[in-house]
Amino acid sequence: MPLFQRFTLTQYLIEERRRFPGANGDFNALILDVALACKAIARAVAFGELGGVLGNHNGEAGGSVNVQGETQKKLDVISNQYFTRMNEWGGHLAGMASEEMDDAYQIPAQQPRGNYLLVFDPLDGSSNIDVNVSVGSIFSILRAPQAVIDSGRDVIEADFLQPGSKQVAAGYALYGPTTMFILTVGNGVSGFTLDPNLGEFMLTHSHMQVPADTHEFAINASNSRFWERPVKRYVDECLAGKTGPRGKDFNMRWIASMVAEAHRILMRGGVFLYPRDTKDPCKPGRLRLLYEANPIGFIMEQAGGRASTGHQPMLGVQPTSLHQRIGLVFGSKNEVERIERYHAEPASTGQDNPLFAERSLFRT
Ligand code: F6P
Repeated sequence: MPLFQRFTLTQYLIEERRRFPGANGDFNALILDVALACKAIARAVAFGELGGVLGNHNGEAGGSVNVQGETQKKLDVISNQYFTRMNEWGGHLAGMASEEMDDAYQIPAQQPRGNYLLVFDPLDGSSNIDVNVSVGSIFSILRAPQAVIDSGRDVIEADFLQPGSKQVAAGYALYGPTTMFILTVGNGVSGFTLDPNLGEFMLTHSHMQVPADTHEFAINASNSRFWERPVKRYVDECLAGKTGPRGKDFNMRWIASMVAEAHRILMRGGVFLYPRDTKDPCKPGRLRLLYEANPIGFIMEQAGGRASTGHQPMLGVQPTSLHQRIGLVFGSKNEVERIERYHAEPASTGQDNPLFAERSLFRT
């Protein structure tokens, strides 16, 4: 298709804005600032070792540790700076929160403040950076509480504790063989591919839809001894293949970069599980609610898929803290609903299932 027949992200946003005659352009400008941060990160990722950006922050051996207790990579820190610096000046935000920052980030006093909150994981899957496997950035946009807008006061943690159903927009950038920017503003999901010559995100994937059925699942199976029974049952049934209760063979995938798994699922279906488990009683799940589960959940639901804790729809969860972790299941609707049904069934049903007995593939 000739270039002039394609829409840029800016043109797409202008078209979208025409649906809201009262909109003043602030929201579009915010999305473009986020996209600019993603382009800058894409460039840093692409230079890799040549750019001196690989390895741990503060030296190879120890490195500094973020609020999650995870070692920060140089690119984690650089990506966080791109996000904060490129979004703090525009006057669209009342505050920000990031995986890489313990507390809410205040818009500097000399800058104007706006109506939105930006929450992000600047570099998801960062353990993959040094081995040149796809990583990404995830973001979620919420409205600031009216009291914050009226007073212009500093933001506090409580301002961000809004369920995923309140998100105004969400998206991610995937730094893979090509850089892509996936966006929902609550009207379906659109995908843009970075044209490296123009430095523009071009609309390449309209009305993205997650197929309702799949034969592909993604889970870190090394945690199987910590899984709860409904998850064990689901995975056992997948592994049992054609001769098992599902009557079909499944494939398993694990990239260890959630944004890359989400993209595969958005493109061709599948189900992703990082469920609540018993590995570390202090951590009710591995992934974070506000800047991982909610934005990916919003995108999945907008693309006809589903996102859940296993026990309840993800977007209905009332957050209790900024860096809250949660069990996450998302992807093809019929599979996620099946996993939710397994969680809803009384425990004894699972126990009686022969797949958990002596011959079980993942024995307890
Ligand atoms: O945010 C954390 C993350 O890197 C996700 O992108 C990914 O799905 C997961 O952790 C990988 O976890 P594990 O190290 O258990 O494979």
